[in-house]
Amino acid sequence: MKSPNYKVKVGIVGCGAIGSRMATAIVRDFEKDCRISGLYDIDGERVNKLAKDLDLKNVKKRSIDSIISASDCIVEAVNSDHTLDIIERIIRAKKSVLAMSVGKLLGAAKLFNLAKKNKCYILLPSGAIAGVDAIKAASLVKTNRITLTTRKPLSGFQGNDYLDEKGIRLEDITKETVIFEGKVYEAVKHFPRNINVAATIALACQDPDKLHIRIVVSPEYTRNTHEIELDGDFGRIHTKTENVVCPDNPKTSYMAVLSGLQTLKQYCTGILIGT
Ligand SMILES: NC(=O)c1ccc[n+]([C@@H]2O[C@H](COP(=O)([O-])OP(=O)(O)OC[C@H]3O[C@@H](n4cnc5c(N)ncnc54)[C@H](O)[C@@H]3O)[C@@H](O)[C@H]2O)c1
Repeated sequence: MKSPNYKVKVGIVGCGAIGSRMATAIVRDFEKDCRISGLYDIDGERVNKLAKDLDLKNVKKRSIDSIISASDCIVEAVNSDHTLDIIERIIRAKKSVLAMSVGKLLGAAKLFNLAKKNKCYILLPSGAIAGVDAIKAASLVKTNRITLTTRKPLSGFQGNDYLDEKGIRLEDITKETVIFEGKVYEAVKHFPRNINVAATIALACQDPDKLHIRIVVSPEYTRNTHEIELDGDFGRIHTKTENVVCPDNPKTSYMAVLSGLQTLKQYCTGILIGT
């Protein structure tokens, strides 16, 4: 039995835009409920810088296994082909994980089953969208097609291989342009860094085939905007979220960081609202 003053030991894997901001908020704002037990990144310089900036001692970890053993819960904020392996190692060790890379978890039923068996949690933040709570509730009854329209500035798509393959040159786009329209598996495959919210909706509604996605860009856009529409036996939902981009990474919305933090806070305090 843990004391009421116990601080949850949180490890951060991936010290980029999201991981660094979450670590900073944990140290500065959440110190009553949790503490940083480890920082890990394949780029050791990022760990060094973050530990120095936050004046943290004995938190630099040299491997995934050492951060897992030092922590109660791990924040996964990596940008890697090995993300699923990392999440699986955390779950195998019977530790909970707050997974930011929700797109990777679409179709990962094996991992959700393992978490259930090992009595630990895969926590998925709502990310940069509003309405996930209502979508989950609506999924309990009959719903019709869900549409997600994502509008992003051009800078969020620099270096995207799919656009290269399609011959879409960002520098030639002068007005509002639809660059993708289709199903969630395709969207996540072609835009892994941009469309985690689509996977979040697909997991929340429990029927990925119902989700129709449009991605629109324009030189005029300055915000990452996500608009969701669905109707069904419950009534109708229409939400629109206009996000400022994370200053450290234009592909990421600041709201994604905040929603990760709120999810972590709920886990640490045991007060679950709208989850
Ligand atoms: N859920 C959401 O709504 C949402 C929103 C934005 C971003 N994301 C996702 O969150 C993740 C992190 O985003 P970010 O903006 O912080 O990215 P980022 O590129 O700023 O940082 C990623 C970090 O991961 C590190 N990394 C890469 N491979 C690693 C490995 N094998 N082990 C340890 N560290 C590794 C990199 O060195 C980098 O520091 C991405 O997968 C992104 O798609 C989710």
